[in-house]
Amino acid sequence: HTAIDVIRTKRDGGRLTGPQIDWVVDAYTRGEVAEEQMSALAMAILLRGMDADETGRWTAAMVASGNTLDLEGVRRPTADKHSTGGVGDKITLALTPLVATCGVAVPQLSGRGLGHTGGTLDKLESIPGWRAGLSVGEIRERLDEAGAVVCAATEDLAPADRKLYALRDVTGTVESVPLIASSIMSKKVAEGAQSLVLDVKCGSGAFMTHVDRARELAEALVSIGTANGLNTSALLTPMSTPLGRSVGNAVEVAEAIEVLRGEGPADVVELTVALAREMLAQAGVDADPARVLASGRAYETWCRMITAQGGDVDAPLPRAAHTHTVVAPESGVLATLDAYAVGVAAWRLGAGRGRKEDPVRHGAGVLCHAKPGERVEQGQPLLELLADDPADFPQALEALSDAVEVSDVEVTSAPVVLERIG
Ligand code: URA
Repeated sequence: HTAIDVIRTKRDGGRLTGPQIDWVVDAYTRGEVAEEQMSALAMAILLRGMDADETGRWTAAMVASGNTLDLEGVRRPTADKHSTGGVGDKITLALTPLVATCGVAVPQLSGRGLGHTGGTLDKLESIPGWRAGLSVGEIRERLDEAGAVVCAATEDLAPADRKLYALRDVTGTVESVPLIASSIMSKKVAEGAQSLVLDVKCGSGAFMTHVDRARELAEALVSIGTANGLNTSALLTPMSTPLGRSVGNAVEVAEAIEVLRGEGPADVVELTVALAREMLAQAGVDADPARVLASGRAYETWCRMITAQGGDVDAPLPRAAHTHTVVAPESGVLATLDAYAVGVAAWRLGAGRGRKEDPVRHGAGVLCHAKPGERVEQGQPLLELLADDPADFPQALEALSDAVEVSDVEVTSAPVVLERIG
């Protein structure tokens, strides 16, 4: 094989053969195929597409570029969850201990946030003492003990994806369904769980803003998972307004803890339970997650999970030093509270990062005092902005300039789950 032949095949609209895919992914990982060649191939794939067989094979080749996590010895069925990312999406925090309490082992190898969407590890790192890095042996131990572990993905899982994702990021080739789907699934297959539930978000705050594109992505993800021997399903869920009432790091941990204590905002509780049902059904475990949540037992699992990674569950969470309140511009029904705008505002306040190496401010973020569909009175607090540095408020307010709409007619809020695929 040569890189030029592979590029030409795709450039001219042809199908890549299995051996071509295996070769090009492996040679790129080893540095034999140059960055500029992979960049041309990624653009050809973006423009010409890949069919289901090519995408499945591409995923398998990226899995084969590194190690897979060996969960063979874990004594319970294993289930994994992935969200394509959204604003205020703290679901993993409560879902992992909840499903573990129901008897399933849940390895959540998570990432950090970039841009307007947050990362699970950044959120957990707001807990004093908590550390994200675990060895493979520690991950297995945690799964046997508490059944739940949330930690950083080890460097050796799907290294081809790590390299390719960084290249796509700077070459305008992120937005390709086969490339996104194979990227996500290579990491999930390498994690080695027996089943996987995907939360594919659509709306302004999501990766896919239109439902048709989100459905296309969900179908590609499910098809790759199935082709790679993973029991996979997906829920399409809305992301046009933030999930719950908190967006940031420490504030999202606090909200997840409320949910684990049987309280918390209705949308977060409902989505957590819906995803838990899906995971339990796939793992073949008969339990009622809503009852387990109400019992407080999932909170005990949370405490064990956090403590085992050095976290102090009794220590107060960090709080930003400064607040700024945004009030309702008029009386009526809150029709819009735009997810993307709130996500960008939280990011500007320091909750997110602009570059991979930047730190995040754990106490920063946005609290939403009203949700779409609720009645508001003129002058009532709608949003509370939290920042360590008050100089961050103007930029956040600018991001929010078109975020809020108040209507004088009834507004129905979106269902928590739009469709199930798989
Ligand atoms: N998330 C990923 O992991 N990969 C992509 O390509 C896009 C989003």
